[in-house]
Amino acid sequence: MKFFIIIVLLLTIGHSISEKVRYDNYKLYKLTPKNVEAIQVLKELEEAAFSGYNFWSPVLAIGMPVHVMVPPYRVNELENIIKIIDVDSVLLMENVQDQIDAEDRPQTRDEGFGWTRYNTLDEINAWLRNLSVQYSSVVTLIQGGSTHEGRIIYGVKVSYSPNNANNSVFLESNIHARECTNAVIRRIAESYDWYVFPVFNPDGFEYSHTTDRMWRKTRYPHSILCTGADPNRNWDYFWNHGGTSNSPCTEIYRGPVPFSEPSTRSMAEFISSVGDQLVAYISFHSFSQLLLIPYGYTDEHLDNYEQIYQIGLKAAEALAQRYGTEYRVGTVYETIYPASGSSADWVKGVFNTPIVYTYELRDQGQYGFILPPEQIIPTALETLDSFITIFLEYENSISNK
Ligand SMILES: *[C@@H]1O[C@H](CO)[C@@H](O)[C@H](O)[C@H]1NC(C)=O
Ligand SMILES: *[C@@H]1O[C@H](CO)[C@@H](O)[C@H](O)[C@H]1NC(C)=O
Ligand SMILES: [Zn+2]
Repeated sequence: MKFFIIIVLLLTIGHSISEKVRYDNYKLYKLTPKNVEAIQVLKELEEAAFSGYNFWSPVLAIGMPVHVMVPPYRVNELENIIKIIDVDSVLLMENVQDQIDAEDRPQTRDEGFGWTRYNTLDEINAWLRNLSVQYSSVVTLIQGGSTHEGRIIYGVKVSYSPNNANNSVFLESNIHARECTNAVIRRIAESYDWYVFPVFNPDGFEYSHTTDRMWRKTRYPHSILCTGADPNRNWDYFWNHGGTSNSPCTEIYRGPVPFSEPSTRSMAEFISSVGDQLVAYISFHSFSQLLLIPYGYTDEHLDNYEQIYQIGLKAAEALAQRYGTEYRVGTVYETIYPASGSSADWVKGVFNTPIVYTYELRDQGQYGFILPPEQIIPTALETLDSFITIFLEYENSISNK
């Protein structure tokens, strides 16, 4: 079995989202605020509930671009605002629905593996089960946790040797990746136990499938008006320490209490069962081209920051070599914004896991969440380059001690 096909296919699956809510004539703007007043205005738009503005990336600072999707009935308003405030404006997409439709063209399968991009949660779970049957000596199906709506959060454990137990790697969420085989990859595959969970938020995933392509949160009914909490602001480590919201109607609602979401609570229990065995915890998100290091709740550099930062730089260098794609490396707090209650902060803080990274994959906002299919394979290959570098560099850094 080609190990990385499994990793790669599993992770890519998470991006196979189809859509029902339509975004006809929604426009995507890139706005770069030039002064404090412009930031203030954009922040007001960002925080206005039910305004229809959908911020794909947050309002941060002067000179930092913000990606905002604007419904047709707000376009005139936004165009007027752009004229009044000091902001650079680029129209990135005329019609977001066109882009979603373009994403809808099925991918050709290669070598019997691969898939189209439109797997439902049921298909993904069936596929995980198939893998565990087909490669039963190596792959075990795992029930990691469960959700508010009663779904099971499935993953697989890939293990070539019982001796690897204390050398485990946990992969959360999705990556655009594909097949790539050589001796180094094979060696790394066989030296660790791999826990892979392609869909950490199945309720939200299913909803994004059936109803709204742009859904991000869980589906727990926290208020009459607004559903869900941000599952990556809900973990019980310096929860509510900045960069979250108290309002259920925001995308970064932290939940009423830590681990209020059944999915995060149950997955935390599962991760705890292997926490002391983890050498690495890596989560995959999109977009922005960042390789992020804990922490999000504080700007202090804690634990093995220097080691992980240096490895991260080498990983980004390796990633850039293939196509020149540039990643920035740094802590969540310093590189993007304060954000507390993430799974990465929790794992790092509770288990002091040596390697903890969060990838924000391609792109830098040109297509944002709707990356064109032809970028999947390149993204996969370059990400894998960096991924392998992380493990090689880590092994070097501990053997040189
Ligand atoms: C799982 O295996 C069954 C039986 O071989 C097959 O019919 C089905 O298409 C497979 N499903 C997936 C998602 O791979
Ligand atoms: C893992 O570490 C624990 C605690 O140090 C030890 O008891 C166990 O034998 C180790 N397992 C393997 C497979 O090395
Ligand atoms: Zn994300």
